[in-house]
Amino acid sequence: MHLAVLASGYGSNLQAIINAVQSREIDGRVVVVISDQSDAFALQRARNKGIEALFIDPSLFSGREAYDREIVSQLQRREVELVILAGFMRLLSSHFVKEFKYRIMNIHPSLLPAFPGLDGVKQALAYSVKVSGCTVHFVDEGLDTGPIILQEAVNVYDSDTEDSLLLRIHTVEHRLYPRAVQLLIKGKLKMDGRRCLVDES
Ligand code: GAR
Repeated sequence: MHLAVLASGYGSNLQAIINAVQSREIDGRVVVVISDQSDAFALQRARNKGIEALFIDPSLFSGREAYDREIVSQLQRREVELVILAGFMRLLSSHFVKEFKYRIMNIHPSLLPAFPGLDGVKQALAYSVKVSGCTVHFVDEGLDTGPIILQEAVNVYDSDTEDSLLLRIHTVEHRLYPRAVQLLIKGKLKMDGRRCLVDES
């Protein structure tokens, strides 16, 4: 299966996906990495592995929809079947979501529906929760509102800082995200209304 990863920053989740492809935990191939930031380290990670890395500059487009149409056309040109958002900090237009219905995944550093949007870890600490975690979900038009695929909890300690909690959540993300991708590739995710049923057999 042709996979595309969209990332705005550091790209540690991209790296986890690339590693899982290499170790054959994911039966797919990352054919392109796209970023909205020219200096995203994620682009460098892709180049290091000989994967095509594309910076698409949002400032060259009249708005979100026009920008997304360009991304969609780049994805279609490469026959991408699954779009993996890995720290891609833009809301997708309904055009994009409709073109890849239940074919766009996102990872978020909280147990959704708690603490959506920016700074999920900071929000969780500010609220003083005792448990947080991460969520892999399909993307819809809302902000982190799509059907949940996998979640895993992480303890929050009184001594935690944003960095220490983020580090613990990242460790889980890097395991959970490749698993969710492989479940989709293997046809183990079934939609029932807005519920995503996972066949773990
Ligand atoms: C990840 O922790 C991901 O959960 C978060 O961005 C980070 C990207 O890290 N995504 C969101 O907050 C989406 N709302 P990475 O660039 O090292 O993969």
